[in-house]
Amino acid sequence: MSKILYENFKDYFRVGAAVSGIILMNDAEREDLFQKRKAWFEEFKKNFKPQPGMPEFKFTEPKPFPKRDMPDKKLAARHFNLVVAENECKMSSIYHGPDQFDFTAADRLLKFARENGQAMRWHTLVWHNQSPKWIFEDGKGGKASKEQLEERLKKYIMTVGARYKDDICSVDVVNECISDKNFILRDGADRSQWFDILGPDYVDKAFFWAKEAFPNSSLVINDYNLEMIEGKRQGMYKLVKGMLERGVPVDTVGLQMHINIQNPPVEEIEKTIELYGSLGLNVIVTEMEISAYTDKDFEHPDPRREYDQAFLDQQAERYAQIFECFKKEARAGILKDVILWGITDRMTWKNNFPAPGRGDCPLLFDNDGKEKPAFYKLVEL
Ligand code: XIL
Repeated sequence: MSKILYENFKDYFRVGAAVSGIILMNDAEREDLFQKRKAWFEEFKKNFKPQPGMPEFKFTEPKPFPKRDMPDKKLAARHFNLVVAENECKMSSIYHGPDQFDFTAADRLLKFARENGQAMRWHTLVWHNQSPKWIFEDGKGGKASKEQLEERLKKYIMTVGARYKDDICSVDVVNECISDKNFILRDGADRSQWFDILGPDYVDKAFFWAKEAFPNSSLVINDYNLEMIEGKRQGMYKLVKGMLERGVPVDTVGLQMHINIQNPPVEEIEKTIELYGSLGLNVIVTEMEISAYTDKDFEHPDPRREYDQAFLDQQAERYAQIFECFKKEARAGILKDVILWGITDRMTWKNNFPAPGRGDCPLLFDNDGKEKPAFYKLVEL
């Protein structure tokens, strides 16, 4: 039996994993999901129009899920002391109408966490993606009014808090609110209907409501590329500094850290953590994986990146260097949790993002759940 991953870091930070609801389903539910995805895929393919960067349809056809327990489930239970739902706690998974909430999948993950003695975090309350369509509509063919949307959002946050406040250690209150274009708040033209309808103070408001709803949880503002792009890092710094000055109850910056085999250098990660630490904020790493690819190339032979020993060793070395940096920042009292965005390479979202159908291998366990060199390196660090 291999060593246990989280135990090796227990004096520094918790080690978490995003758990896909799929691995907690039974065979019948999984088959049902597969059939739905197949039907959706056929429809999508039929309606596909060539677009810049993707002249031909590149998405891969959904495959049936393996039967019975997938390796991810045992690995999740054994190696991590913190879990987060990969999709099941997003608004579109839960909030189906003004009075319609479905907590089935969220409850299932909480049960799993309790059975395994794990902490659980919440991802996410406000995000421009994976929000239900109805919430931005007035029901008469127009946009929801500011008052209407505010009421719906507040109700959502309060309802989730009332149910889970004692079970959730930290909450991603606002996700991905910094624009990649100008590094200020993402606006309506940049796909945020929250900003479009509520205006710029929706972020502060969401945090005040979250504080009421989750009085004992840590409240996180979460984003990607903060460690990669200096301008975005500074944009987030300005935003949270202003929030602190206004008395907004944000206490943690979440670095998603969807990074790759080359970028960013470890020093940039370190600088980023220390920058937010200098404001007295905590930092957590919320969605880490190390992709094999450094580009977004849609035109790829399949599989393009050779899954060879040299790559696996390089990836192991990079995980190790970054986790050394995490240990240092934990000793400095800034870094609190490190969460990987998935468990096995088979299930990673990176197999379809940013290039659909381009298989990736960014995690610690391979397609079959076997430990990769990166895993062995980390348990010995
Ligand atoms: C991703 C999930 O992993 C996918 O299964 C889903 O199809 C799309 O969302 N940033 C986030 C996460 O905050 O919620 C995203 O998760 C990955 C990028």
